Amino acid sequence: MGIKVTWLSHSAFSLDIGGKKVLVDPFLTGNPLAAANHGEIAADYILLTHGHGDHLGDTIPIATRTNAPVIAPVEITNWLKKQGVQRVHGQNSGGSFTHPFGRVKFVQAIHSSSLPDGTYGGLACGIVITAEGKNLYFAGDTALFSDMRLIEEMGIDVAFVPIGGNYTMGPDDSLTALKLIQPNAAFPIHYNTFDTIVQDAGEWARRVTNTTTALAIVLDPGSTFTVD
Ligand code: NI
Ligand code: MN
Repeated sequence: MGIKVTWLSHSAFSLDIGGKKVLVDPFLTGNPLAAANHGEIAADYILLTHGHGDHLGDTIPIATRTNAPVIAPVEITNWLKKQGVQRVHGQNSGGSFTHPFGRVKFVQAIHSSSLPDGTYGGLACGIVITAEGKNLYFAGDTALFSDMRLIEEMGIDVAFVPIGGNYTMGPDDSLTALKLIQPNAAFPIHYNTFDTIVQDAGEWARRVTNTTTALAIVLDPGSTFTVD
């Protein structure tokens, strides 16, 4: 059956896992590349890597409309409860939990995390989703770090890595990251949304092909591919 992955641009994804719709970092309003509207998108679960506005995005209106639980670092779920979002599940870095759609592990990221009102957001994280026999690694916003080699030991099928630079890894460090993670396929995120993170994804894909063992998957926002 596999996992259907739709890139909504930036770090935002809609996953279809056995008919359950899982949103990741749903930044749509204010995102010039957004391939969906927060008032229409389906959601059974919402996952957040950290609290920055370009990841929290439209979480509150989507959770309010759909009643989808929000799975996020615990400081963020505590803050969301104060905003009126009651269906939440807090986790923290290193912790795994089996949700109805699959297992979710929060892993290290090197980045900051705060909520839009300045509230401390806990550790910024990456997320590994295990479902349908596949491991998907959403790196979130992160710098390169050598312990990505520990994520490799999980056996990653697809790694979603930032390439934009300025706030996160740029193309050079993302290639080093892929050599540590050794995924079967790599998907670039967090680029071209703002003028500070403009990158050439086609050139990145050529470098991935020439210097790593991963298949580079570069798609336009709104496109879907299947992991199976
Ligand atoms: Ni961030
Ligand atoms: Mn970001």
